[in-house]
Amino acid sequence: MILVTGGAGFIGANFVLDWLAQSNETVVNLDVLTYAGNRENLATLDGDPRHIFVQGDIGDSAVLADLLTRHQPRAIINFAAESHVDRSIHGPEDFIQTNIVGTFRLLEAVRDYWGKLHGDAKQDFRFLHISTDEVYGSLAKDEPAFTENHRYQPNSPYSASKAASDHLVRAYHHTYGLPVLTTNCSNNYGPYHFPEKLIPLMIVNALAGKPLPVYGDGRQIRDWLYVKDHCSAIRRVLEAGSVGEIYNIGGWNEKPNIDIVHTVCALLDELSARLDGHSYREQIVYVTDRPGHDRRYAIDASKLERELGWKPAETFDTGIRKTVQWYLQNQSWVANVQSGAYRAWVEKNYSGRSA
Ligand code: NAD
Ligand code: DAU
Repeated sequence: MILVTGGAGFIGANFVLDWLAQSNETVVNLDVLTYAGNRENLATLDGDPRHIFVQGDIGDSAVLADLLTRHQPRAIINFAAESHVDRSIHGPEDFIQTNIVGTFRLLEAVRDYWGKLHGDAKQDFRFLHISTDEVYGSLAKDEPAFTENHRYQPNSPYSASKAASDHLVRAYHHTYGLPVLTTNCSNNYGPYHFPEKLIPLMIVNALAGKPLPVYGDGRQIRDWLYVKDHCSAIRRVLEAGSVGEIYNIGGWNEKPNIDIVHTVCALLDELSARLDGHSYREQIVYVTDRPGHDRRYAIDASKLERELGWKPAETFDTGIRKTVQWYLQNQSWVANVQSGAYRAWVEKNYSGRSA
């Protein structure tokens, strides 16, 4: 079996669902269920004996030791993290706690567990750490995309905490020989994306008749990958990646934020038109920029393509259409995640931004 952490969040849940759609290998899913963790994402697995959900913290050494001893996983995939840049600006503490201290505790528990394995079990064991392109910092307009050798230059508390966790993972390989793999992926989008992030926020706000808040001039560039393509890349790295290596994951799909928002509006105009016949674009409002806002990310995924033969299945056009359709078909999921805590976050993040 494999152990997944953070498997009730956006990417983790997509990963668990895809894994069990393609394999009968059991998944133990350790997730503390923060505001971003949602059992409803995994509802289709209710009663499925191949999915063992455990509510717990990657920073809890006792829980980790018990889980590892009991289930003896052949691999661990670490998705668990605080993941939203704006939240890290308002309050970095949780990011330090989970992304740095939590990853450290997880590594310690895994080091102990792996140290006691023998033979093939020890040889074949893998710890796969899920990281982000944000650790590389921001690119100027004409700079080449991030390769795995790009220097680390994290700019937000979120990316700094992810960078710290990457360094710990690297050190545990270098010092103790722990068989680690690290992936650094670009921006994901798709089903179950929590509506604090750009694409789901725009869909949800548009349908609710609310403003579509674009930070600064809206010309910042992100490199977008459909979440299921991220999951297929992770499966491929787990299967064939070389121990100690880093693999960048991306879809060669750079777009300015304002273009993303226009695309979302155009799809909604087509699939769920406003009753007054006007375009959702009329709801766009430019608001005060994110402090320290990174201008451009771009991933060079050629190592993964060349060495492991991975390619994304979706283009941006097919992926974004599927995504908008998913939100239109899953409005009860949207309603259920818009709790009081969600509304308090929206108020905190947007009320102080002048238009
Ligand atoms: P998310 O915020 O949607 O989900 C995070 C999950 O981790 C939640 O289920 C949460 O409950 C759980 N969690 C948080 N703290 C925990 C703890 N201490 N112990 C156990 N579980 C905990 O995040 P996501 O967007 O799915 O991102 C998953 C991973 O992928 C993160 O490591 C993130 O840095 C990385 N990543 C995300 C993107 C993206 O575009 N979303 C891109 C590249 C990399
Ligand atoms: O690059 C990978 C990263 O992508 C991941 O590591 C993070 O976990 C993930 O959250 C994401 O970070 P970003 O900051 O790029 O994503 P976000 O969706 O928050 O913002 C995308 C862009 O849209 C960014 O330039 C900020 C802008 N934006 C965002 C929001 C929420 C807006 O203009 N308005 C908004 O309301």
